[in-house]
Formats: sequence, C-alpha cells, structure tokens
Amino acid sequence: MLEQIPILRQEIEEKFSFISDLKGLETFRLEYLVKKGKIQALFDKMKEAPSEQKPILGKELNILRKFVELKFEELKTKFENSQINEPSIDLTLPGRKYQVGSFHPVMQTMHQMMDIFIEMGFSVAEGPDIEDGKHNFDSLNFPPDHPARDMQDTFFLKNGNNLLLRTHTSPVQIRVMNGMKPPIRSIMPGRVYRNESINARSLAEFHQIEGLYIDKNVSFAELKATMMVFAKKMYGEHSKFRFRPSFFPFTEPSAEMDITCFLCGGKGCRVCKNSGWLEIVGCGMVHPYVLRNGGIDPNEYSGYAFGFGIERVTLLKTGVDDIRLLYENDKRFLNQF
Ligand code: PHE
Repeated sequence: MLEQIPILRQEIEEKFSFISDLKGLETFRLEYLVKKGKIQALFDKMKEAPSEQKPILGKELNILRKFVELKFEELKTKFENSQINEPSIDLTLPGRKYQVGSFHPVMQTMHQMMDIFIEMGFSVAEGPDIEDGKHNFDSLNFPPDHPARDMQDTFFLKNGNNLLLRTHTSPVQIRVMNGMKPPIRSIMPGRVYRNESINARSLAEFHQIEGLYIDKNVSFAELKATMMVFAKKMYGEHSKFRFRPSFFPFTEPSAEMDITCFLCGGKGCRVCKNSGWLEIVGCGMVHPYVLRNGGIDPNEYSGYAFGFGIERVTLLKTGVDDIRLLYENDKRFLNQF
C-alpha cells in the first residue's frame, strides 16, 4: 500500500499542471479532496494494513494531504485574483455610444440673445407667467375695449379674479420700474400665452425677450442703434433689416423691425406672406403713461422698450420653416442643433 502513495502523488501533480481556472480546480476537488475522494480512500484503506505499517502510512498520507491542500489553496487564490484583474468583458466589442443632452434650439437662441444684451450692459429680470389684468393690460395703457382683453385672445384663469396667462413679457416692464430707480437697463425673458390657432407661424405658447432702457434723454436713435447692433451680432454683418412704423398702446412712437426672409432671400414666399420680410421685434419709446404707472416721472426720464419673439428669431437663424417642428420633440430634428 505504501507504494500507492507516490503513484497518487504523481497523478495529482500532473493534474495540477493542467488546471487553468476555478472550474478545473473544482473538478479536481471533487475527485481528490472530498470525503469520498481518492485521498480519503487511501486513509480508509489504511485500516486494513498491518498495524506495524500504520504509523508510516499515516505519516506519508498526511504529508500527501498537506501538500495537496496547500497547492489547492495556492491555485485557488491565484485564479480568484486573476478573475478580478482580467475583465470579464469582451474588449473587442465596439464601444457604447453615450447620448449627451443639449439645450433645446429655442433655449440656445434665448441664451445667445441674452448674451448679446448682457454684453451691452443689460441685466436680467423675470416676472410671473400668471399675471393680473392690471400688469398685463391696464398699466400698459391698453384701453378698456382693446381686443387683446377678449377671451378670444387671452387665456383667463377660471374664477381667477382677473388673473390670466400673460400674453406678452411687457408686464415685467411695470414690475421692473416699480422695483428700481432709473437708470434701468433690463432684459426680461419668459414664456407667454395666446389663445391663438396653431399654425406654421404661430403657437399658443411661446417665448419672448422684453427689453427696457430708461434714463435721462434716451432717444429713438439709441433704440434703433441697439436693435441694429443686436441684429448684426445675431445674423451677421451683411444681413438686411428695415424699420416700419407700428402701433402698441405702451410705446409712442412705435416700430417693428423686419429681417430679410430666410427662405426666399427677399423675393417673397409662403413663409413671409410674399413680402420678402419677417418681423422679429416690436419696439418703441415707452409711453409717458406707462412710465408714470411704473412710478417714474416722464418729465425727467425717457426710455425705450422692445419685445422679441424667440421662436421667430430661431426660425430665422436656423432656416426651419414651421414653428411647430420646434415642439414635436422629435429627436432626429432636435439632434441637428
Ligand atoms: N409686447 C409686444 C408684443 O408682444 C412687443 C413689444 C414690446 C412692443 C415692447 C413694444 C415694446 O407684441
């Protein structure tokens, strides 16, 4: 029986040399190291051996078992460590693309516009989306029978005590004037709402940037220059603009600025209603009544105000010819900006 021990040892050493992972090691354990394994089998056999052989058999078998157990632990540690170090992923697979978010094109335009005005010295103010009739209409010199006050044009809140969704950012002018002393140079971005049918050119919910400049001796020439500088920065040195007289209850005189239509280049098409021009901003000198409603003495101060439609500016900037595309949330569309 004694001679079987070196034979088993040789067999085991050979096995060890072929084991290359934890799975192989487990197969080995089940064959040799469990209670019914080959090593224990020899221990069991020892009982049948003549008693004078037993001490030497026991000693040799214990040496073998110690050796196998040590080697087994050593390999186990080695394979476990290599499992941690070697990634279990397939490094030859192509990488996963991460989708990086970005600002919506309308917000990009808004930030770009704000940056231009901030550079000119304007600071940013905000007002509430839910306004009262006083700020949205009365203080801005809308006569009591003005059509904008109609339910057809304005979303009123149910039982809202004359509360409404602001139809423009101009009520923030009043809030700014009430809150600070001239000189005032503010831009007021925000969302506005109109009870309008939705089509390629207009939405019921959109964005504006209001501007307000109040100081001593502010002139219309300054307003015009500011609008020109803005438009050139936004659309490039060679873009073409025109000023048209217009009317707003809260400015006098009033004007609108147009830019050459992006689609037809001025020839006339469906986007510009065949005029070749697109309106981007309403503006004018702040009406003396409005200054007074804002707590400012019109004999001492004058000022100008303007209001841009941000979606409109975005269409002109990007060449998108239907305003509704901006809000369909189609990623194939949005990814282009
Ligand atoms: N509030 C006007 C509008 O919504 C725009 C405007 C703002 C005009 C400021 C003049 C001065 O059309």
